[in-house]
Amino acid sequence: MQRQDLLHAANEFGTPLYVYDAAELDAALSRVKTAFGDARIFYAMKANPNLNLLRRFAAAGVGFECVSSGELARAEHLGLAGERVLVNGPAKSDEEYAAGARLGATFIVDRAEEVGLLPPRSRSLVRVNPAMQISTHDHLATGSKASKFGVTLEQAPRVLQALADAGHDALGLHVHIGSAIRDANDFTAAFGRLSELRAQTGPLRVLDTGGGWGLGADLGGIAERARATAAVFGAELWVEPGRYLVAQAGTLLTRVVGTKHTGRHFCLVDAGMTELIRPMMYGAAHPVEALWEREDQATEPILWDIAGPACESGDLLARDVALPAPERGDLLALGEAGAYGASMSSTYLTRSRPAEVLYEGGGWQVIRRKENPADIWRVEE
Ligand code: LLP
Repeated sequence: MQRQDLLHAANEFGTPLYVYDAAELDAALSRVKTAFGDARIFYAMKANPNLNLLRRFAAAGVGFECVSSGELARAEHLGLAGERVLVNGPAKSDEEYAAGARLGATFIVDRAEEVGLLPPRSRSLVRVNPAMQISTHDHLATGSKASKFGVTLEQAPRVLQALADAGHDALGLHVHIGSAIRDANDFTAAFGRLSELRAQTGPLRVLDTGGGWGLGADLGGIAERARATAAVFGAELWVEPGRYLVAQAGTLLTRVVGTKHTGRHFCLVDAGMTELIRPMMYGAAHPVEALWEREDQATEPILWDIAGPACESGDLLARDVALPAPERGDLLALGEAGAYGASMSSTYLTRSRPAEVLYEGGGWQVIRRKENPADIWRVEE
């Protein structure tokens, strides 16, 4: 996708706009397939649950990790069931157990008490929390001692046994230590702790190592460790990438509304926390690209804070970015926005969620139309 394609999309479909590059979606999936060999892939649809992307992955043989009845409804809507669906979550509702049962899905058991809540004869995995330091934002660390996820290493063999005793089909163990993790050593350490359970659990049929691979992480290294760990248990390897499959394919296009110079230099744009909350929520840094060229007359280069239209001071998309003298109407591209961009967007301030468009073979397809205010209040009348 070239710069002129992005300019065209913004003119054609308006901004803010989520743009996805089909070639990069396919490329990311093949990188995962190459690295992980014959591991079974379950896309964590929370990263981006657009039906069109799900269909694309489903057609490529991918299964889905679901954490809500809404996500399960998406899987059901696409006709996916059985071995293609995982039901996960630390606090599953009756509705979610029922949907999982209807689909014949595999449950990821997050606490011992769930053994008695599962539908009869459920295929299941026990999620283990290795309780370590994880090199990511606190909110994204799920394998740390303080997080609410999983059972302890000590509890895991007992929960597996309890599942079997209750007549469930206990397939094996699950571990997902967090998200946006760039240091492969974190995975090595977590998988190492898990391996120590082998003496107590004996061989297992499945080891699910979750997702969490940060962009730019050593995918080959993570894959090698995951495969070696599965081998320790004589198990088939399952993985649940979210971000890795969709982040880089996505760009958030936003237009400059104007500038303001106070103590700081603000470049005000038409997207903000409602379209990309990650900078505000996790201090995430998304690459910012100016899609215009201009001689900057400033004697000293100005560093800009990219600020959105919301009535909150935290509504910033980036800080201290060099830009060539922004003017109203200029276009900015925020990269790595394919994961947890649209999926975490909100209608706060009754802002209509943007359209999503897919670029494929030189053409555009609208895969989600822009909302309008009546879409938002329809369920209130
Ligand atoms: N498997 C499980 C059990 C998970 O909880 C998650 C993500 C994934 C797989 C996929 O993780 P990924 O490969 O995408 O890192 N909203 C945050 C990310 C939260 C991820 C929650 N769980 C963000 O914007 O960074």
